[in-house]
Amino acid sequence: MADELHRRLAEIVGPKGLVVDGDTSRYLIDWRDRIHGDARAIVLPRSTEQVAAIVSLAASENVPIVPQGGNTSMSYGSVPHSGDSGIVVNLSRMNAIRELDREGSVVVAEAGTVLTSLHDAAEGIGRQFPLHLGAEGTAQIGGLISSNAGGTGALRYGPMRDLVFGLEVVMPDGKVLSDLSALRKDNRGYNLNHFFIGAEGTLGIVTAAALKLHPALHADADAFVSVERPEMALELLARLQDRFDTAVQAFELLSGSQIEIVGNMLPDIRCPLETVPDWAVVIHLGDPDPEARLRDRLESLLEEELTAGRVLDGVVARSSTQAGEFWKLRHSVTEANLKAGMGVTLDISVRVSAVPAFLATASEALRREFPDALPVVVSHLGDGNVHFIAMFLFDRDGPERHPMETADAVQVLINDVAIEHGGSFSAEHGIGRKLVGELKRLSPPERYDMMLRIKSLFDPKGIMNPEVLFPVDRR
Ligand code: FAD
Ligand code: MLT
Ligand code: ZN
Repeated sequence: MADELHRRLAEIVGPKGLVVDGDTSRYLIDWRDRIHGDARAIVLPRSTEQVAAIVSLAASENVPIVPQGGNTSMSYGSVPHSGDSGIVVNLSRMNAIRELDREGSVVVAEAGTVLTSLHDAAEGIGRQFPLHLGAEGTAQIGGLISSNAGGTGALRYGPMRDLVFGLEVVMPDGKVLSDLSALRKDNRGYNLNHFFIGAEGTLGIVTAAALKLHPALHADADAFVSVERPEMALELLARLQDRFDTAVQAFELLSGSQIEIVGNMLPDIRCPLETVPDWAVVIHLGDPDPEARLRDRLESLLEEELTAGRVLDGVVARSSTQAGEFWKLRHSVTEANLKAGMGVTLDISVRVSAVPAFLATASEALRREFPDALPVVVSHLGDGNVHFIAMFLFDRDGPERHPMETADAVQVLINDVAIEHGGSFSAEHGIGRKLVGELKRLSPPERYDMMLRIKSLFDPKGIMNPEVLFPVDRR
């Protein structure tokens, strides 16, 4: 049967579209090398018609499908189950930019378009696509839409959901739903696009998207600033927004423990301040007006803050190279943490004003329950999104004997703190396979039930990414 399935898939995608030999690990192991899966076949379609034919075949044979983009997911949604008998449908070869419309500020891109390629295409017509994250050289449009990614630009432009006009999707029965007209207003009943954004491949396969572009920025300013406590960072953000409004493009909070880990694990990356502070923020301002004088204005605001004792120290970048160094430090946290130890990364969201209280309670709970763990914080502060990381350093006594149990226990402990603070346990990384239990445990029953009903309405055979979002009974 496996041979017969391969033969029929090869008929659809051609021999080059089917991965049979060689190193398949990039399709079967997650980015952090934590989850290893198996698949009956790995296919790389080139067109929407090929995706539709693959899905029709899988539906007729009841074979599960795992849609996959850059495979950079933090919640393991793009990796098949181990011992699984499903098909990985990797969209990498569907990477055409179908349309660029400067006046309408629209780009229509296929699902496999890598985020940096989209940035370049937008720049080519004097526009920008404002989603930015550490994995932008690998993550793809279909994956970013399906996980409703956030990143550093969400503060100004919102997460991926706010950047989508419409989608082309292959449904679980092989039919194609297409809405690429990019209308700014369209009230023809329910907006079906939104079901697929953040659905993590459980309702269909996104094959293309009409996306929103924004004016390109011609003035910018970047700073690396230390503050005594997260409260001060929030106050600084408010003052920046009062003065610069939409020019505040990114505002990221880092704990000193995180800056130290980056410095220790990646010695080429240095803290721009003389000593590693307890807390630092990385700021990016940008404006379409080249005369906006952002650097001078940021410097004078930071001078006022220093004089008033509300910030402790700071550096405003004198060049784009120096600004790049600040952001390299910020975007290297995941790589550095992987080298440093077993980091249990939480993806919490609370109301922006509640971040300091959440951080205090979460750190206290971690110290009490897991005294071996080092609290590490990376936060998209302006979105109320905190990656609270319980770091069990390799060079200390850690939980090597029971890493999965420890990770689960930390997860429950800190997610409960998020809920106590009126928050969410999944801000931008989704549920994937990682948080299936937490989704059930922490969802109000009526919400969970409605999601199950939506899943079975779209995908009655349950072939689309089983075990993502919801458990599957394997008896
Ligand atoms: P994948 O990992 O391949 O897939 C993600 C999910 O979408 C899976 O459930 C998969 O089944 C589904 N999927 C993929 N393609 C399709 C498709 N065409 N149709 C339907 N379903 C599909 N995330 C953030 O939000 N903010 C960050 O700041 C951030 N920083 C990161 C930094 C690093 C260094 C790394 C490694 C990851 C980071 N991430 C971040 C997580 C990750 O990059 C994002 O979740 C991204 O959206 C995943 O894109 P991808 O193409 O790799 O998708
Ligand atoms: C980030 O903000 O850097 C990411 O979401 C990745 C991570 O949490 O490690
Ligand atoms: Zn993040």
